[in-house]
Amino acid sequence: MRQAHAALLLVFVSFAGLPVGCDVPSGAGRGIADGGHAGAPTAADGARPVTSSTAAPVAPVSPRTVEERALLRVVSKQAPLGAAYVPAELVGLPEPAVSPGLGTLQLTRPASEALLAMQVAARAAGLDVRVQSAYRSFEVQQQVHGALAARLGEPEASRRSAPPGYSEHQLGTVVDLTTASVGWGLNARFAATAEGLWLAANAPTFGFALSYPEGAEAVTGYVYEPWHLRFIGSSRAAEWQRSGVTLVEYLGRVGGASPEPSLSAPLPRRGRGE
Ligand code: DAL
Ligand code: ZN
Repeated sequence: MRQAHAALLLVFVSFAGLPVGCDVPSGAGRGIADGGHAGAPTAADGARPVTSSTAAPVAPVSPRTVEERALLRVVSKQAPLGAAYVPAELVGLPEPAVSPGLGTLQLTRPASEALLAMQVAARAAGLDVRVQSAYRSFEVQQQVHGALAARLGEPEASRRSAPPGYSEHQLGTVVDLTTASVGWGLNARFAATAEGLWLAANAPTFGFALSYPEGAEAVTGYVYEPWHLRFIGSSRAAEWQRSGVTLVEYLGRVGGASPEPSLSAPLPRRGRGE
């Protein structure tokens, strides 16, 4: 697994000269702040304001099982996972699910199954949605974030990349999705592609929620990431969509903030994404 680990890191730090774990503005490119997707529907559109409004009530039903608590756990700049957190089970994604040349990526089994179903549906609609990043261990996030911080400085890097121990990717239930028309990279232009528009409309049906919508940095701590989707299950995703609040606010309301000790305990590294 170390080879895959190294390959993943290489992709993060070398794709098109930019880290692809996040959208980094460049002099030549159209970054997040340049309006590259202005005027087009975005993943944040569609009756889902991105402030802390209370457009629709959220049923205050606390998650009941260990798995659900992990699924709905808040991960934010105020609520880290810590270095020791490793998902209970990770499975490899099939090669066609992943962007060309990336090798093996992993997710939890429920997230993987939902992702594959979503990709089948996208393909039936004539679209090609693939995974650019999935589970990232604490160590991988450390390397990715460190590389970005070295380039941009820590304050700017932290708007685009979570410090190690603070990334939702460490849950194993998050995917960064991309498509050929954006060069298999991660940038805000993805929102206006046919694939990005389809995901904005359909991802919740498959249980995926957009963690970092446009214009919500003050709430989420991160700039717009139309590619970053977190699996929370289809009924929760539907409720989140109706709620009109950001995902982090929704998860806070449904009780996902409590750490789950049995899933946070140190586990052997072998077979856990290394
Ligand atoms: N790009 C997101 C915030 C992460 O690093 O988890
Ligand atoms: Zn991501």
